Amino acid sequence: MSILVTGGAGFIGANFVLDWLTQHDESVVNLDKLTYAGNLESLVSLENDERHIFVRGDIGDVALVDKLLKEHGPRAVINFAAESHVDRSIHGPGEFIQTNIVGTFHLLESVRAYWDALEGEAKQRFRFLHVSTDEVYGSLTQDAPAFSETNRYEPNSPYSASKAASDHLVRAYHQTYGLPVLTTNCSNNYGPYQFPEKLIPLIIHNALSGKPLPIYGDGQQVRDWLYVKDHCSAIRRVLESGRVGETYNVGGKNEKANLDVAYTLCDILDELASPSARQLALTSYRSLIIFVRDRPGHDRRYAIDASKLESELGWKPQETFASGVRKTVMWYLGNQNWVANVTSGAYRDWLDRQYRT
Ligand code: NAD
Ligand code: DAU
Repeated sequence: MSILVTGGAGFIGANFVLDWLTQHDESVVNLDKLTYAGNLESLVSLENDERHIFVRGDIGDVALVDKLLKEHGPRAVINFAAESHVDRSIHGPGEFIQTNIVGTFHLLESVRAYWDALEGEAKQRFRFLHVSTDEVYGSLTQDAPAFSETNRYEPNSPYSASKAASDHLVRAYHQTYGLPVLTTNCSNNYGPYQFPEKLIPLIIHNALSGKPLPIYGDGQQVRDWLYVKDHCSAIRRVLESGRVGETYNVGGKNEKANLDVAYTLCDILDELASPSARQLALTSYRSLIIFVRDRPGHDRRYAIDASKLESELGWKPQETFASGVRKTVMWYLGNQNWVANVTSGAYRDWLDRQYRT
């Protein structure tokens, strides 16, 4: 048996594939377009593992996806593939519409045709799991209750609007065609292999390079942080036992203001970074923090109520913010080559050579 994972060379997808293969013998077909956010180096430990079959391609390439489904006969498709960075969606929404909406639509069409042709046990067992975000619910006021699965969709950025649209398509394919879908809506992830355009790896990377640590607006926007491995365990749990057609919110009950996140990272770096890195900062890494122009349409607060997932499926996160963020800083300190490769363009040059047709 196998599963098909899309976007498995990105941050969460790569963590998912790595974790999956430590826990299952089932092989993973990993379809990823390798945009700037996809990095095969994150999967280098699987280089000689026959259970990992990497295919470079687009979820919107119907012929390719049809072929992969036919060849490998997966028992599940888990859709991580997306354009995922809010700021990029503000500068250029086109790719977000293309991959997150049109790409998901094409993927759903291929999967529907595949599932229609399955029979008996294989048809019963099949699942399409769509990985989505809490951003589809919009922004919370300071005292509002956390997002539950019944909150209205009120996306505020081109990114979250495109994810909301994809969630609606997934839902419609269940309601209309009976496709056995599951959707997860998760809060902000952090951990190993996150591209240093997102807040936590950006702060770590800039601090170690002695560069300013940019905080948007007043830095009091709140995010609910979840260690990526806990997100992966939630997805495995939902895939295993989630009720078909349902959505599950995933979150870590770790609401933090951005400025406090930056302070925490600086304090850990003050303690752990090597003297040469430390010399870059004057006294503390905190002195590198600067306030910059706010993100347009910036959501003020996200918070997730994950009680459905906890009570129905018995999922609980393993990491607190304190333990997860320390692990994350240590990972980045120990993996500076990975960071250098994804930020230098050397990796892109390698890809062009490797995949030249
Ligand atoms: P990422 O940007 O790190 O990775 C996305 C991956 O998808 C990359 O490997 C990229 O190459 C691939 N990809 C992009 N377009 C593709 C296409 N058309 N066909 C095939 N592959 C394509 O993103 P991430 O942070 O790992 O997020 C993964 C998923 O989880 C996304 O759907 C995102 O919306 C969702 N999510 C992310 C977070 C978070 O905090 N990062 C939280 C909740 C939900
Ligand atoms: O909530 C889940 C979402 O979390 C995912 O769906 C997205 O894919 C993921 O990118 C993330 O979105 P955010 O916009 O919340 O994450 P980001 O790391 O970009 O920003 C976190 C907060 O930090 C946000 O309030 C903006 C702020 N920020 C970000 C950057 C990059 C700064 O203050 N300075 C920065 O330089």
